[in-house]
Amino acid sequence: MKVNGTPYRSLWWDDAADALMIIDQRWLPHEFRLERLGTLDAYATAITDMHVRGAPLIGATAAYGMAFALRQDPSDGAMSAAYSRLHATRPTAINLRWALDRVTAAMRPLAPGDRPAIALRLAQEIADEDVAINRRIGSHGLALIEAIAAKKPAGTPVRILTHCNAGWIATVDWGTATSPIYRAHDAGLPVHVWVDETRPRNQGALTAWELASHGVPHAYVTDNAGGHLMQRGMVDMVITGTDRTTRTGDVCNKIGTYLKALAARDNGVPFYVALPSPTIDWTVSDGCDEIPIEDRPAEEVSHVQGRTEGGIGCVQVTPEGSAVANPAFDVTPARLVTGLITERGVCDASEDGLTGLFPDRAAS
Ligand code: MRU
Repeated sequence: MKVNGTPYRSLWWDDAADALMIIDQRWLPHEFRLERLGTLDAYATAITDMHVRGAPLIGATAAYGMAFALRQDPSDGAMSAAYSRLHATRPTAINLRWALDRVTAAMRPLAPGDRPAIALRLAQEIADEDVAINRRIGSHGLALIEAIAAKKPAGTPVRILTHCNAGWIATVDWGTATSPIYRAHDAGLPVHVWVDETRPRNQGALTAWELASHGVPHAYVTDNAGGHLMQRGMVDMVITGTDRTTRTGDVCNKIGTYLKALAARDNGVPFYVALPSPTIDWTVSDGCDEIPIEDRPAEEVSHVQGRTEGGIGCVQVTPEGSAVANPAFDVTPARLVTGLITERGVCDASEDGLTGLFPDRAAS
């Protein structure tokens, strides 16, 4: 997508710098800064401290991290050490393990000398695949938006609520939840997006920044506004992303997603999840019991970052001495999900739905 008229992906290998370049998302939406990752520690820190974030982008960054490590030392020992270092960065998004496993499985049979070049090509392939997957999610989601638009008075926007940032900067390009939105907007179908703020890290500001850059009408709302908007009939559909979806269709996503799904069910609003297949964890059946939920630092809750007169600053919002908890994700049970929008089509949030679309993956 474009930033100030220049097309970007959220990460790319820079041949001149011989390094991975990322958009350092900690400074968005106020400043657009790029970062060059030049050590394995820099890759790990970029994921842990959320310079890069969003399940698909975490996976792609980890794949490049493995390639980087193998260029330094292609031995089996160095490869396992890099795997462990990167795997420890964040626990919830399954794309991380998926990407690390894919690179490792491809490297194991190779002679160490062949690994660096092939690992880099594979990381590039993973990044390109992500773009293609998200574009296909956009086509399938667009059909859902068109179906809703067809039931509304001509010219009135389809009002879509989204939570967190499942946009192009959470992926390599297009985004997952936002891909159908961009496609609808580009096709001239009027849409209006309710952007949840998504405390504590306010990823909604990233979504608003993306939508504004692309000219998509939207309004930024507090997390607690969603239920009210749905009660008033001001939301036609919800589309969120996911960090890990079980083989049975339970959806783990940014904290607060579950409450939106409950409100959507109570108000008869369809609740869709944009799901790229690398985000399916085929080894897990019960999302509430089996998915590890990341606890993030207390400072993300006790403090808020934003633009101040002097630049970008941080203020404390909690009283001194109050304990703080920061669970970063929650699980929306499959029964609350209207449908999963995958690159192979839309299916029920159920084992039958997912295995019907992905028989090849479910069996392995
Ligand atoms: O903690 P984050 O910002 O990495 O969480 C991101 C989300 O929860 C997204 O909704 C999810 O990864 C889908 S991104 C296409």
